[in-house]
Amino acid sequence: MYLDSLSIQGLRCLERVELSLDSKRNVFVGDNGAGKTSVLEAIYLLGRGHSFRTANSRRLIQDERDQCVVRAQVQNEHGRLPVGILKTADATRVKLGQDTGIKLSDLARACPVLVLEPGQHRLVEDGPVLRRRFLDWSVFHVEHAYHDEWRRFSRALKQRNALLRATQHSMLASWTHELIAAALKVDQFRRQVFEELLPLINTLLARFLGDDHGLRIQYRSGWLADSSLEEQYAKQLSQDIERGFTQSGPHRAEIRVSVERHAARDSLSRGQQKLLITAMLLGQAQHFALRNHVAPILLIDDLGSELGLKARETLYGFITEYSGQVFVTALDSSQMPGNWQRDAKMFHVKHGAVEPMV
Ligand SMILES: Nc1ncnc2c1ncn2[C@@H]1O[C@H](COP(=O)(O)OP(=O)(O)OP(=O)(O)O)[C@@H](O)[C@H]1O
Ligand SMILES: [Mg+2]
Repeated sequence: MYLDSLSIQGLRCLERVELSLDSKRNVFVGDNGAGKTSVLEAIYLLGRGHSFRTANSRRLIQDERDQCVVRAQVQNEHGRLPVGILKTADATRVKLGQDTGIKLSDLARACPVLVLEPGQHRLVEDGPVLRRRFLDWSVFHVEHAYHDEWRRFSRALKQRNALLRATQHSMLASWTHELIAAALKVDQFRRQVFEELLPLINTLLARFLGDDHGLRIQYRSGWLADSSLEEQYAKQLSQDIERGFTQSGPHRAEIRVSVERHAARDSLSRGQQKLLITAMLLGQAQHFALRNHVAPILLIDDLGSELGLKARETLYGFITEYSGQVFVTALDSSQMPGNWQRDAKMFHVKHGAVEPMV
């Protein structure tokens, strides 16, 4: 699966960009502020429905405009599929083939994309939300029943929380029952996918940080390990009612990353954090490819920044061997490994215009 062509309109400084892409390696070079990251942002938008830089669509849309549009031709085992996404400040419209009004989750399946970019230190530094999202992306793409189970769980959680705040609790027992059933399914899917991901990430961690890195990555379900969810809900009922929400469950799950019992964010250097995140994302890409027999699109912003020589070479080695399509940005082509300068399709980005280099 790869993007054959890409069209971007009205996204940040990119007024109108039309590109014919390489099925493997695409490199975008240009000065600071030229629009390189914005190209990756456009591709990410296609596969995720939102930006990796902002939750506010208004900032993504070019000033003076009221919408941005990204379209691509996806080449997959069935042939060519046109995909597209249009964003206004408060709405998103998606197109897949001739069908409009389809769901973002369908677009995500057609165009799986992963990004490695400087803002991702938040995956280590922030609370559990981003790490849960990280795991859920993998579960969504390899376990197709997960999406429905997750929605069933979310609905039951919403209902139960509303009932906890209501004066009448007569329906609480049946929604708690429904919530537990869905929660156990969600947990089971997550746990299984985590077990598959972990050895891949650990192997990459050893390549990036050496065998004695001391990092430990654990999955936590969101409730106490030594009691069942049913027991926990029974025990916490009066507290849940007092607080007006369900305190335990998959919505509180965590991927804990620690070094000698300290949280990774307190003990790793910035460069080590970047290597940890790189290992997590590349492991995720490998896992996707193993399970789906097709590799997701990899976006790498500022390739090699903040990495030492050895780590950079390991990363170059990985992406050179990678079977899927890769998009990277760099300030200039001399930052690229030699074989990339020769084999990749290079684009020059200047003031929002993107031209192939000859
Ligand atoms: N909504 C917007 N409308 C118009 N221009 C915008 C908008 N948002 C950001 N820009 C501009 O778009 C430009 C492109 O930024 P981008 O981050 O893509 O550059 P870059 O090439 O990745 O730079 P760097 O090498 O510094 O990372 C910036 O000059 C920024 O001021
Ligand atoms: Mg940039």
